[in-house]
Amino acid sequence: MSYLAVFLILLPISCAASTLVEKKFNECLMTKLDGNSESIEKIIFTTSSSLYTPVLESLEQNPRWLNSSRKPLIILTPFHEIEIQAGIRCSRQLGLQIRIRSGGHDYEGLSYLSKDPFVMVDLINMRSIQVNLADETAWVQASASLGELYYKISKASKVHGFPAGTCPSVGIGGHISGGGQGVKLRKHGLAADHVVDAYIIDANGNIHDRKSMGEDVFWAIRGGSATSYGVILAWKIRLCSMLKEHWRNEPTMLFTGGNTQHMNSMRIFSSERVVAQNSGDKSKTFKATFNSLFLGGIERLIPLMNESFQELGLQGKDCTEMSWIQSVLFFGGFNKDDPLELLLNRTTSYKSSFKAKSDFVKEPIPKTGLEGAWKIVSEEDTLAMLLMDPYGGRMNETSESETPFPHRKGNLYNIQYLVKWEVNSKEASKKHEEWAKMIYKYMTPYVSKSPRASYFNYKDLDLGQNKHHNTSYSKASVWGNKYFKGNFRRLAQNYQNEI
Ligand SMILES: Cc1cc2nc3c(=O)[nH]c(=O)nc-3n(C[C@H](O)[C@H](O)[C@H](O)COP(=O)(O)OP(=O)(O)OC[C@H]3O[C@@H](n4cnc5c(N)ncnc54)[C@H](O)[C@@H]3O)c2cc1C
Ligand SMILES: *[C@@H]1O[C@H](CO)[C@@H](O)[C@H](O)[C@H]1NC(C)=O
Ligand SMILES: *[C@@H]1O[C@H](CO)[C@@H](O)[C@H](O)[C@H]1NC(C)=O
Ligand SMILES: *[C@@H]1O[C@H](CO)[C@@H](O)[C@H](O)[C@H]1NC(C)=O
Ligand SMILES: *[C@@H]1O[C@H](CO)[C@@H](O)[C@H](O)[C@H]1NC(C)=O
Ligand SMILES: *[C@@H]1O[C@H](CO)[C@@H](O)[C@H](O)[C@H]1NC(C)=O
Repeated sequence: MSYLAVFLILLPISCAASTLVEKKFNECLMTKLDGNSESIEKIIFTTSSSLYTPVLESLEQNPRWLNSSRKPLIILTPFHEIEIQAGIRCSRQLGLQIRIRSGGHDYEGLSYLSKDPFVMVDLINMRSIQVNLADETAWVQASASLGELYYKISKASKVHGFPAGTCPSVGIGGHISGGGQGVKLRKHGLAADHVVDAYIIDANGNIHDRKSMGEDVFWAIRGGSATSYGVILAWKIRLCSMLKEHWRNEPTMLFTGGNTQHMNSMRIFSSERVVAQNSGDKSKTFKATFNSLFLGGIERLIPLMNESFQELGLQGKDCTEMSWIQSVLFFGGFNKDDPLELLLNRTTSYKSSFKAKSDFVKEPIPKTGLEGAWKIVSEEDTLAMLLMDPYGGRMNETSESETPFPHRKGNLYNIQYLVKWEVNSKEASKKHEEWAKMIYKYMTPYVSKSPRASYFNYKDLDLGQNKHHNTSYSKASVWGNKYFKGNFRRLAQNYQNEI
């Protein structure tokens, strides 16, 4: 009997064994649920099911691992808490790992891949959103997308909004548990800074709210990765009043244009995301776009710009006035007058293989440094870019330890290095991953040091590959210090029951 148990755990990929595990999982779940659930066919997909592949690939953003052998043994798509609780308990009984997927946007596929045999809990059916204007909050279930949240808020109120990422298809579950930054960063900080409560299921299958999970865990899940503590069911967030923040009830506004010299010095905007990219082919051309968001009207911006950046010659006609929700459409890649329903579409058009890395900049980068970076970008033969998001403002006023996300005071901007490719092969992956390593190496003198910090939501598994570290804690401390700096120690202490 004990031999059989070992056999099951070690050889789950062999057909006979995996079928047996699937059968046992099924039986276990039926016993635990005892009829108190959706019919079992609607929530369990095994590798032999015809819906297994469509369900698995539906939310996956990075097809880099399409042929991976690290796929789930079983996919569970619960409708109710009780099904997740039973799934956790049965996985533990059978020695299976769990992966949790909300929006599927993980950069390294960690929500749907694992070396060890595992059950993927796909929360896609749990995405209701309840906006409560009386106390300016909302309960948002984990798999709701940012687009669904923005849409719901805008339908409920003309004066409220929420500061989170720009890409509408990102899931709120993973996004907030890693921080969550967008174009309101300077004004309002991170999405995680606006969480006031949460429901989580722990490794034993018990449900907690903020009070029963305790302040240490509540601190940890707001930016320090939730997977180590349990399954987030829902976040309770505080909405931001757009009326209060504006000077009169003004629309937000943005302009496109600019010059790289200004990227180190602008302070006027809520955001001035710079996208510095090649043309995606072999033409070796390069362009930088400034997408800036000013919280106020044109008549207030023009004199400010004339005072500080006269040489840009910004005029009213270079700007577009829009409401908060129109700016959400704009930064999400649509036109400001497009129907809001576009925000609800979770099938994205930008699904292609990619690799990313990130850095934080604390000192202005000299012109020669930037020119060298532009050269590396323009020489890549597929779409490559640097996305630079300014910090300062509210980010500069928050202490490093307030949440696990430590990149606050003293950071000028965050850089994301991103390369995408269409031909999905091992060789292509290797080649473009090398490009990412090359630009990352080149940037070393210009970015944060000791540790060279990275943003957890732009996950990069290269960070753990340090040959001088050979225990798992010591390996983890390498990426842990980069993502969380001094907060890593506290995260590691809190972390008791890995799911
Ligand atoms: C196209 C694109 C655009 C992006 N734009 C931005 C942006 O503007 N700003 C920004 O800050 N980030 C951005 N990101 C990064 C994004 O915030 C992270 O990838 C985030 O982790 C995605 O969350 P998810 O729920 O969609 O992903 P998932 O892949 O579902 O999950 C990500 C991680 O969180 C864990 N997790 C997910 N749900 C839960 C849960 N309910 N309980 C416990 N653990 C859970 C997963 O196991 C996994 O480890 C973008 C990513 C992509 C692909
Ligand atoms: C910009 O400022 C200069 C003075 O510094 C002034 O002469 C000029 O009229 C201003 N232009 C605009 C468009 O406000
Ligand atoms: C959602 O977006 C995808 C990709 O752009 C598109 O093919 C699809 O038609 C859209 N779906 C709806 C319902 O608009
Ligand atoms: C952050 O605040 C300090 C003062 O506390 C200030 O000197 C610095 O310029 C600010 N940095 C940014 C990026 O706003
Ligand atoms: C996946 O498999 C297909 C068919 O066998 C192959 O053409 C493709 O190159 C493989 N992709 C990767 C990323 O290995
Ligand atoms: C780990 O590294 C230390 C020195 O860095 C070495 O003494 C030890 O033998 C190594 N352990 C393993 C298991 O490789």
